[in-house]
Amino acid sequence: MKAIIVNAYGGPEVLNVETTQKPTPKANEVLVKIEATSVTRASVMMRTGKPYFGRLFTGISKPKVKIPGTDLAGVVEAVGSEVSQFAVGDKVMAETDLNCGAYAEYICLSEDELIIHRPNNVSAQEATGILDGASTALAFFTDQVTIQPGDKVLINGASGSIGTAAIQFAKHFGAEVTAVCSGKNAALVLGLGADHVLDYTQNELEQNTEQFNVIFDTVGKLSYVKSKKHLTERGVFLTPVLKFSALTTMLLVTTFTKKKLKFAATGLRKQDLRMRDLKQIKEMLANGSLKTVIDKVYSLDEIQAAHKYVDAGHKRGNVIVAIQ
Ligand SMILES: NC(=O)c1ccc[n+]([C@@H]2O[C@H](COP(=O)([O-])OP(=O)(O)OC[C@H]3O[C@@H](n4cnc5c(N)ncnc54)[C@H](OP(=O)(O)O)[C@@H]3O)[C@@H](O)[C@H]2O)c1
Repeated sequence: MKAIIVNAYGGPEVLNVETTQKPTPKANEVLVKIEATSVTRASVMMRTGKPYFGRLFTGISKPKVKIPGTDLAGVVEAVGSEVSQFAVGDKVMAETDLNCGAYAEYICLSEDELIIHRPNNVSAQEATGILDGASTALAFFTDQVTIQPGDKVLINGASGSIGTAAIQFAKHFGAEVTAVCSGKNAALVLGLGADHVLDYTQNELEQNTEQFNVIFDTVGKLSYVKSKKHLTERGVFLTPVLKFSALTTMLLVTTFTKKKLKFAATGLRKQDLRMRDLKQIKEMLANGSLKTVIDKVYSLDEIQAAHKYVDAGHKRGNVIVAIQ
């Protein structure tokens, strides 16, 4: 089968198309013919090996896994003798996280992993595209804060993968949503349900005097200290981007102030919580209350160009790799 192989950390040039052995499912595994995968920020981090502490999980001097790719959608082509939840022909979507393996024509997954049936009305590209952003956003909104109807939620980086999903979940939980993005993405975020838009290129948040119950800085560009004036008395500042400054602030403010800062590595959560969220994502995709924003679609042969585009930090929603 065709797959992307990596042998070293580095730029997009470390991603090479090669021919490798098609896997055979074990008794508890399904063989998935992958139709689409996506280029997530996690796959970029795993390619670069930065930040360096991430290498404790991905390999110190070179990547532990040869085939990258953190999520996928496809069709079950074969099942092992002990598989009970899936059958040949089933449409599925899955998150592979640190195990990777999604940049390939085929993958074997145990039926106990984060694999779930894909709704019939959802394409493979839509399914794989939503997984990273939606699972991250939902984890923050279930584990770290509880949004009450009418709460004011500010989402920074609203046009990105996490941001576009976070707008939709915050609306789903009844929040009044203010989205921060550049002017060119204002129509996009309003279309996803945001009530108000602030243009970060015009410093509109700085000039705004409102206070929010939750500030979700999905792209790690805001400072908690500077944002405190925008938080209500018991407001919470959420960030999925791990920085030393945020960690030290988190320890100090958690102890001494009511306005909190919270970070979470959502991919490291317990499997049962992640499966619960995956089921909610599936349900919302099926009933149309969660939509995938697709920016660009590349082929497997164009993987280096796809990574280069994501590296620039300005994708709108999600970047897809169509496989077959
Ligand atoms: N902790 C976790 O569990 C976890 C899980 C997943 C991801 N992450 C991390 O979360 C971060 C976000 O991931 P993502 O996939 O959502 O990112 P992304 O899709 O690559 O974000 C791109 C978007 O960010 C916007 N943006 C860039 N600079 C901005 C600024 N200064 N202010 C506001 N918006 C800005 C861009 O809009 P413009 O083009 O208009 O600039 C673009 O639409 C990454 O660092 C990723 O590693 C963490």
